[in-house]
Amino acid sequence: MLHVTNLTVTYKGAGDAVVLGDITFSLRLGERLALIGANGAGKSTLLLSLIGIMTPKAGEIIAGDIPVTQERLRDLRQLVGMVFQNPDDQLFMPTVLEDIAFGLRNYGFDEKTIETRIDAILGRLGIVHLKNRMSHRLSGGEKRLVALAGVLVMEPSLLLMDEPSSFLDPRARRTLITILDDLPQTMVIATHDLDLALTLCRRTILLKQGHIFADASTTELLHDPVLLEQCGL
Ligand SMILES: Nc1ncnc2c1ncn2[C@@H]1O[C@H](COP(=O)(O)OP(=O)(O)O)[C@@H](O)[C@H]1O
Ligand SMILES: [Mg+2]
Repeated sequence: MLHVTNLTVTYKGAGDAVVLGDITFSLRLGERLALIGANGAGKSTLLLSLIGIMTPKAGEIIAGDIPVTQERLRDLRQLVGMVFQNPDDQLFMPTVLEDIAFGLRNYGFDEKTIETRIDAILGRLGIVHLKNRMSHRLSGGEKRLVALAGVLVMEPSLLLMDEPSSFLDPRARRTLITILDDLPQTMVIATHDLDLALTLCRRTILLKQGHIFADASTTELLHDPVLLEQCGL
């Protein structure tokens, strides 16, 4: 359901340094992929490329049957959802309800559908009690789940997450992992949390300095201390 072919991404300035070089991989429907690598390896840049926020210098990305290009961003927003590393970057409406409704309103869904979908997603994530709360007063774990709700309510087929367990205490982290494990979505999860990767993702791509250093079963990779050491993990 996702095909990335020879993707190369550079950042302007810094001598147009290559941040991602020649990345090629595919994901099947329902597959969950962990993306690991030291700080600066290119994990976030890869996720931003997959939702079309970064424009690649070369290569091709196809999500579902939609090419990831500026012209198709509106279609892509319904197919691909991203949970950003910092929920404060994602939540911007005063209340939880308005925040989760925002995307649906933007896409012209009627109020009845909006309400039904929101109640369903809040129930699924176990956060019905947060519905009328002020977004900025939530705890880190609550914010993360509300941000996830705002993405899932759009019913994306592909879910991208950047460091989903950061800022979470152990209990909130367990809750999140259990919730994610129950979701049907195809997922790409960038994470430093190797235990989360092991629990949720059968497959892992290890990035080193913008290149795929390994693409293998998570169990295999995480039990190779030499390989992890070579990649600064
Ligand atoms: N906006 C930017 N402008 C220039 N360089 C950037 C920008 N964002 C990230 N980089 C650089 O791109 C590389 C990859 O960063 P990033 O994708 O954030 O890695 P990771 O998420 O694996 O820590 C790093 O060298 C980083 O400094
Ligand atoms: Mg990052």
